[in-house]
Amino acid sequence: MADDRNLPATTAAVPILRRRADLRIWIAGWHRAGETVGLVPTMGALHDGHMALVSAARARADRVIVTLFVNPKQFNSAADLAAYPRTEEADAALLAPYEVDLLYAPAGEEMYPPGFDTTVSVAGIGTGLCDLYRPGHFDGVATVVTKLLTQTRADLAFFGEKDFQQLILVRRLARDLDLGVEIVGCPTLREADGVALSSRNSRLSPADRRRAAILPETLSAAVAALAAGETAANVLDEARARLLAGGVERLEYLELRRERDLEPLAAATEPARLLVAAWFGGVRLIDNMPVIAALR
Ligand code: PAJ
Repeated sequence: MADDRNLPATTAAVPILRRRADLRIWIAGWHRAGETVGLVPTMGALHDGHMALVSAARARADRVIVTLFVNPKQFNSAADLAAYPRTEEADAALLAPYEVDLLYAPAGEEMYPPGFDTTVSVAGIGTGLCDLYRPGHFDGVATVVTKLLTQTRADLAFFGEKDFQQLILVRRLARDLDLGVEIVGCPTLREADGVALSSRNSRLSPADRRRAAILPETLSAAVAALAAGETAANVLDEARARLLAGGVERLEYLELRRERDLEPLAAATEPARLLVAAWFGGVRLIDNMPVIAALR
């Protein structure tokens, strides 16, 4: 088997695999040697938020696999899928200094061969919030993540808190299906003005990009009020008004949910998350922040 460990990490190109049969051979060798495998699933168009997950994986696992697959099953429209940036060469170059052991970039047919007929669906966590506005999205996420976890037999898998509903959903499916993987959540990486890094930010006009700072600003202020013990109803009404006055074109949701299972909360009486989805000039952005339980 090829061993890239003798090459200087900063110049070594990351090996790219396209077939799950090849993936299995590499991973079996690592597991035989007693090495742990860390997985970072992505859809590519990598930015520093993704790289934070890669660094976390590098710190925790002996071997790190980054997957790059634009999953058609999680897109709500063919146009959105077609518009998704595909920048594999640039992504591979970005990963080179991070000592990533493998980049797994399967073609659509490798992931979903003809006759593929199984859907993984998580009830409860997979409904409400984003699911109301992107029906079927989380079934697509749950199905592809289950496949990536079983194909890689990962010991650890890293997901961003940026997509908080996705993180909690993946935790639940890994537990429910006894996948034997530890799901590690990583904090959201933000720009200087607080806006969460996202491949969608580049689709905002300069004016909308400036306006988008209203999301983290409003979340921070609301989090402080909730942590001080104010009830969600009052805080959220005020925050909704602030968002709409601050340039949000359409507010999908702003909700307080219990951190561990996303059950609705009327006040931050236990660890919670404030989650938002809002549109700016035709671009949908999501964000969330933790709320430390109020002392009462
Ligand atoms: P993608 O949008 O490429 O994101 C890959 C991972 O990067 C996710 O776990 C996401 O939460 C994390 N991420 C994105 N922006 C981040 C930020 N600003 N800070 C920290 N982490 C961030 O999420 C997906 O792909 C897909 O749904 C996937 C899980 C790969 C399944 O197809």
